[in-house]
Amino acid sequence: MSDGGHAWWEDAVVYEVYPRSFADAGGDGVGDLPGLRSRLGYLADLGVDAIWLTPFYPSPLADGGYDVSDYRAVDPRLGTMADFDHLVGDAAARRIRIIVDLVPNHCSSAHPLFRAALAAPPGRPERDLFIFRDGRGPGGGQPPNNWPSQFGGSAWTRVPDGQWYLHLFDTSQPDWNWRHPDVPAMFRDVIRFWLDRGVAGLRVDVAHGLFKDPGLPDVVGVHPLNGPAPYRHRPELHALYQSWRAILDSYPAGGFPGSRTAIGEVWYDAPGTLRPYLATDGLPQVFNFQLILAGWQQAAFRGAIDAALAVASGSRAPWVMGNHDVPRPASRYRLDEGFTPEMIEQLIALGDRNAETGARRARAAALVLLALPGSAYIYQGEELGLPEVTDIPAGARQDPRFRRTGGKSAGRDGCRVPLPWARNGASFGFSGGSGPWGPGYPRESRVSPRASIALTSDGASPSAPWLPQPPEWGKYSVESQLADEHSFLNLYRAALRLRRDHPALGRGTLRWLESGDPGLLCFARDPGFVLAANFGPAPAPLPAHREILLASEPVTAGLLPPDTAAWLSA
Ligand code: NOJ
Repeated sequence: MSDGGHAWWEDAVVYEVYPRSFADAGGDGVGDLPGLRSRLGYLADLGVDAIWLTPFYPSPLADGGYDVSDYRAVDPRLGTMADFDHLVGDAAARRIRIIVDLVPNHCSSAHPLFRAALAAPPGRPERDLFIFRDGRGPGGGQPPNNWPSQFGGSAWTRVPDGQWYLHLFDTSQPDWNWRHPDVPAMFRDVIRFWLDRGVAGLRVDVAHGLFKDPGLPDVVGVHPLNGPAPYRHRPELHALYQSWRAILDSYPAGGFPGSRTAIGEVWYDAPGTLRPYLATDGLPQVFNFQLILAGWQQAAFRGAIDAALAVASGSRAPWVMGNHDVPRPASRYRLDEGFTPEMIEQLIALGDRNAETGARRARAAALVLLALPGSAYIYQGEELGLPEVTDIPAGARQDPRFRRTGGKSAGRDGCRVPLPWARNGASFGFSGGSGPWGPGYPRESRVSPRASIALTSDGASPSAPWLPQPPEWGKYSVESQLADEHSFLNLYRAALRLRRDHPALGRGTLRWLESGDPGLLCFARDPGFVLAANFGPAPAPLPAHREILLASEPVTAGLLPPDTAAWLSA
């Protein structure tokens, strides 16, 4: 514990950085750690407590870095270990903590231990660190079971000597064998390695995976998405997470970064599935994906919030409405339904329609999210209201889901397009070591038209961003939005400021208020705070209040317009 009797993470606002798309100091078109370091002033100004940094480790990038070839190093394209240490130090100076991504279900096929396993003949101990099996059918020509890869196709790949290895994701991401004692031992060392460097916690990738049913049975019948499966939610996970919790708790909680945390990525079909992960001595936190799954209806939001709160407080299961795996909220809310893997195709078919509605709803949803009890995660660019980029040419797409489905699924690249910092310029300020976004940037006054001139540190023109940015990206840029008092960015900045200062916000509980209007979502938080969000088609009277603290759209005559939320003092 730290920070006055409760752990800092119980009410933290954490900002997810996908480093290749955040800011590029080197000018090669790929974001990097020095780029992130140069924008810490922006994040401090926004008002976040921590950064979740998605993988920055050496990787062939077959899955955006979730194919790790060395768990204890920095990808040279993203920087050096010294850059990482400087990042942690500079962030700490601004009271921002760093959470790193741990990828324990699988590694990259370029990992030296997997290379050694491939080089060894069947039956050799090197293979036991992974899940190698003989195939079924004549000559073992069929995969050992019918498990699907999450990215399409079979979860098995055959090697030249005839055996098959398991990969729940891409062929290039072989699953570790968590029943081999060397695997947990290696990950204990990796966890300590990063905690010793001062990181505040870990985000655990595919935390519901890792252990597989030892019999590797076929899956039978219609399989609910994220439901129980022989490769998901195994009971063995919980002893493992208890052992990780003991490591986290062995670090002193006093001083910065305070108590260390871990947040599991656990996808589930029923929120009750989260319970064992959240045992008192289990993972400190797991993501709560209810708001990603909820459609744009009052009842869906209320149901999602109730379902999550019935299992855990937002302090143990933080709220999130977007990440690097799902279409961006400003586009998702153009539709009324909640997220499904097929949604990206629906959005492509929708073209430009409902853009304004999507953006309005995303602003309102942000005020709902940030008023809920507990901790909240924001994915980079959400604060700019970035839309999903739906027209990335096939040749530029990188997501293995696109490749493995033969292009049937467009995949997740559309929410990973490099951020626009400046109104103009070759990459809208994304690339270039110099410019007004450097250390110390905290204020509008530092923004000048020179922001549009992105040069590398040696004065050369930077390369094109690794994913193409749309021509209209400049209007979403930080520069444009700082100059507009009604922008998304200024809404987020105001909300985070208020959240920090208001005694009712952060940890705690909520009380539903019944307004009699089926479109209005209203809850109270003590002392003296009310959230109202209008999901209905017509303006709705605001609930009793003293003052409007913040609203996602202008509110006049006591009426909350459709697709609008307000924070009220009561
Ligand atoms: C979840 C990550 O968020 C996603 O981007 C990745 O593809 C899979 N896990 C596999 O590591």
